[in-house]
Amino acid sequence: MTAADHPALGEAISSRLAELAALSDEPGRLTRLYLSPAHRRAIDLVSYWMRDAGMSVRLDPLASVVGRYEAQDGGTQTLLLGSHIDSVRNAGRFDGPLGVVTAIEVVKAAFKSGKRYPFAIEVVAFGDEEGVRFATTLGGSRALAGTFDERALDEVDESTISRREALTAFGCDPSRVAAERRPPDSILGYIEVHIEQGPVLEKEGLPLGVVTTIDGVTRATIDVEGVAGHAGTVPMAMRHDALAAAAEMLLAIEERARRQPNLVATVGKLDVPRSAPNTIPGRVRFTLDIRSPADAERIRAVDDIKAAIAAIAARRGVMQRLTPGHQAPAAHCDEKLSDLLAAAAASCGAAPRRMPSGAGHDAMAFDKIIPFAMLFVRCRGGVSHNPDEYASPGDIDIAARVLSAFLDRIATP
Ligand code: GLV
Ligand code: MN
Ligand code: MN
Repeated sequence: MTAADHPALGEAISSRLAELAALSDEPGRLTRLYLSPAHRRAIDLVSYWMRDAGMSVRLDPLASVVGRYEAQDGGTQTLLLGSHIDSVRNAGRFDGPLGVVTAIEVVKAAFKSGKRYPFAIEVVAFGDEEGVRFATTLGGSRALAGTFDERALDEVDESTISRREALTAFGCDPSRVAAERRPPDSILGYIEVHIEQGPVLEKEGLPLGVVTTIDGVTRATIDVEGVAGHAGTVPMAMRHDALAAAAEMLLAIEERARRQPNLVATVGKLDVPRSAPNTIPGRVRFTLDIRSPADAERIRAVDDIKAAIAAIAARRGVMQRLTPGHQAPAAHCDEKLSDLLAAAAASCGAAPRRMPSGAGHDAMAFDKIIPFAMLFVRCRGGVSHNPDEYASPGDIDIAARVLSAFLDRIATP
């Protein structure tokens, strides 16, 4: 496929991304959480696009949409393409859907020209990548890898609905998760197209990157319990203020992360339940997200931060409890697939930069189980998890042509 055959592929993908972005759980902004009404509508739309692209479609037990484009006669292996269609709150439209829609459009172009490959292609739209609704994440991709931990079915969201209940209400059968595991020798690999979510490609004037490693991550929730009291009557020296303690913990987390190059730590959410201007906060809950390309450094930082939180709590006379959430080691992209992707990009005139990913992706669930590679697309200002997220139709067009050229290359090694 050449740009001349499909001059408007980037435009077609961009306009479908706009259609998907309209499917939101919140008016006026894009929020599409796992197993929500907007997720259902996105599943319906993506399924329709997949059928239109010549694929058979099914919803798996964890609500991933799987579209299958059959191999030419005799092909027994499968190549997985995909990304996710859930979002953070107040999201941009590219993080996740770009990889799903680009894969569908590339398969559609092959289908319309009567082309088959010596392997089947499955385009997977995962629904549980962002980890906003439940404490752990990557459920869909871990099911394919055979590493889904069924204890995650008992996790509850903010409304105390468990993942198992939410899946059942959605029409999925979580007791069938184990059957989703793919025998690794039947899978050629997994390829994910994704926006970079950082500023490097833009700064270097390059449309594409090929990922080397994905940072490992530790997430946790910390509950701090002090003593609620009257803001006017309790002297400062006699308080056990949960919010003041949490504030000191946040600064300790930031200070520890700053001491380690390449390590990042974020408190992205902090709740003060039943708060009021004239009440000393008695309870606080906040989240922690720590990432690094080096697992040992991440684990050391987590240990130091746990110790700092415990020391601050003891000094201030408050209780603290840390509940572990999503954990994933750093994941390494497959060299052969990454080289093929880079060669495909070079053949399209867009030799890519090799780069690590600080953001997590479904691909990391396949580490050491299914070989994977990732293609990054330049985004404006490096902005992501933000409604201003933007990748141009021109850059998306190049990514789609590279994915198509990659399929040709892997078909004729
Ligand atoms: C997902 O975007 C993550 O990196 O947390
Ligand atoms: Mn993403
Ligand atoms: Mn994201």
